[in-house]
Amino acid sequence: MNLLPSGICFYLSVAICWLTAEVDATWWYMGTLGSQVMCDNIPGLVNKQRQLCRQNPRVMQAIGAGMKDWISECQHQFRSHRWNCNTTARDHNLFGRLLLRSSREVAFVYAISSAGVVYTLARACSQGELDSCSCDPTKKGSSRDAKGSFDWGGCSDHVEHAMRFSQAFVDAKERKERDARALMNLHNNRAGRKAVKRFMTLECKCHGVSGSCSVRTCWLAMADFRRTGDHLRKRYNGAVQVAVNQYGTGFTAAHTHFKRPSKNDLVYLEDSPDYCIRDHESGSMGTGGRVCNRTSRGVDGCEVMCCGRGYDTSRVSRTTKCECKFHWCCAVHCRDCHQQVDVHTCKGQT
Ligand SMILES: *[C@@H]1O[C@H](CO)[C@@H](O)[C@H](O)[C@H]1NC(C)=O
Ligand SMILES: *[C@@H]1O[C@H](CO)[C@@H](O)[C@H](O)[C@H]1NC(C)=O
Repeated sequence: MNLLPSGICFYLSVAICWLTAEVDATWWYMGTLGSQVMCDNIPGLVNKQRQLCRQNPRVMQAIGAGMKDWISECQHQFRSHRWNCNTTARDHNLFGRLLLRSSREVAFVYAISSAGVVYTLARACSQGELDSCSCDPTKKGSSRDAKGSFDWGGCSDHVEHAMRFSQAFVDAKERKERDARALMNLHNNRAGRKAVKRFMTLECKCHGVSGSCSVRTCWLAMADFRRTGDHLRKRYNGAVQVAVNQYGTGFTAAHTHFKRPSKNDLVYLEDSPDYCIRDHESGSMGTGGRVCNRTSRGVDGCEVMCCGRGYDTSRVSRTTKCECKFHWCCAVHCRDCHQQVDVHTCKGQT
């Protein structure tokens, strides 16, 4: 029985199927009785992951539902880059053969996926969607920060719990192997998880006579996932190329003038392809058909984006809101303006 007719599976370490709405409904119907069947039908899971999946079907479902968010964060971060984190349903693996490599881009995908699992899970816990977790139970009583003392209140995101689960589940696959790629993936998975924790902020509410703020209740909340995305994107830019040390237990910098990687750095083993042409083996989609900016000298410029192949220009009509007027009270009326704009797209390989 194939329960996942149209589920798109994402099986690098995060072996989860991104279920379509239809399959999602089936899932609900099956309830926990069916979770064994469900988990047994997700391809690419190692035993430990199947076990965690069967024990936590609702957690799996929450993580699956969050997946499109971190994939779109990846696409946002690389929107004007030759490699744009484009996904493909081919081979039931969203990133095609890209993930068989150990390039800088793969480092980023692993880091942002494990960060995404932590974020999604902690949020689901806080929102009371899961039986297995809720708000951080250790944030109770009172505490102090730079502004003085406060009482814990509200709901602090239980990131520690989410990190533990994510580590157990996501890392399980890499722990089966002890080769260079597994070490690389484990390192980047951890860097991703830590990136979420880094952007937790204390949010407070003031109480006391006429808002004097003599009493505060505070909770620790995760920042928007964009912060994690921005951070990991910077780490991608500064990623360190490494080689495995002679004992096979850790890394040394691949080049003598490179720094040794810290726990927060992303690491990679292989140079990246240039992503100019479509190449199934290296997981490159090529830049043919991508929109580029004619006047930019940066990575989004036609020169760089199209890899010197040139571009086509087409004139398209865009509708924008314009001449907006505010009417008392409270409406804004705009006119639709039509504008002709030139759109440049890279020529494909010939
Ligand atoms: C991703 O690639 C597919 C196939 O090449 C293409 O149809 C799609 O528009 C691309 N998406 C993005 C966001 O570039
Ligand atoms: C194209 O690049 C130029 C120069 O970097 C920039 O000023 C302009 O806003 C860009 N246009 C678009 C449509 O992004």
